[in-house]
Amino acid sequence: MLRLTYYGHAAIQLSDQKHTLLIDPFLTGNPVAPIKPGEIKACDFILVTHGHADHLGDTVSLAKRHKSTVVATWELANYLEAQGVKVHPMSVGGSYAFPFGRLKMTIAFHGCGGPAEAEGPAVPANTPVGFLFQFAKKVIYHAGDTALYSDMKLLGEKTPINIACLPIGDNYTMGVEDAARANEFLNAERCIPMHYNTWDLIKADVTAFAYKIEKQGKKCTVLKPGEYVEL
Ligand code: NI
Ligand code: MN
Repeated sequence: MLRLTYYGHAAIQLSDQKHTLLIDPFLTGNPVAPIKPGEIKACDFILVTHGHADHLGDTVSLAKRHKSTVVATWELANYLEAQGVKVHPMSVGGSYAFPFGRLKMTIAFHGCGGPAEAEGPAVPANTPVGFLFQFAKKVIYHAGDTALYSDMKLLGEKTPINIACLPIGDNYTMGVEDAARANEFLNAERCIPMHYNTWDLIKADVTAFAYKIEKQGKKCTVLKPGEYVEL
């Protein structure tokens, strides 16, 4: 069984009997995070979509404490490795068979030039990405921060997507309209909205979003920070 826990913003934890993955673990400084980084009990892999502080978050301290492998773009991986973190560098378009399943880095239309506002050494310029991967017999897509783009149609074409985590907060990423359109392109069975209501600037009407998804005949699972779903 797969348990997907939402920690607010773009932070998502996935676990099954064997592995625990954290994606974009922004807990410290996240006004909606329901837990502190010290409350994360295990994580063997951390996936980081890009170097903005609201995604990189607590990656360094968590990876050190749990001896996790951090999956990130080459530029970001080098930066993390220099801080004593175990890394697996990749680039957009590439895939690799990890112990939990195969993972591909996907396109994300967003910016990420250094120096960033994160603590510690300045983050180098890095390409923002999304992740499309297998975990616990499901196909999961975490879009990262991105605009809508029509090539999302390709992502679910060969292997249907079971769960798509999509930003809906607008301003920095897709808003409600575009994220609903993205889900049409992805043709994902279930959609989980993220990257909204963390701050006023990215306030979104999640009920309107869920309605749009259900009108497509798809499921929308709205999780409050700290809630989880078992699939
Ligand atoms: Ni960003
Ligand atoms: Mn962001």
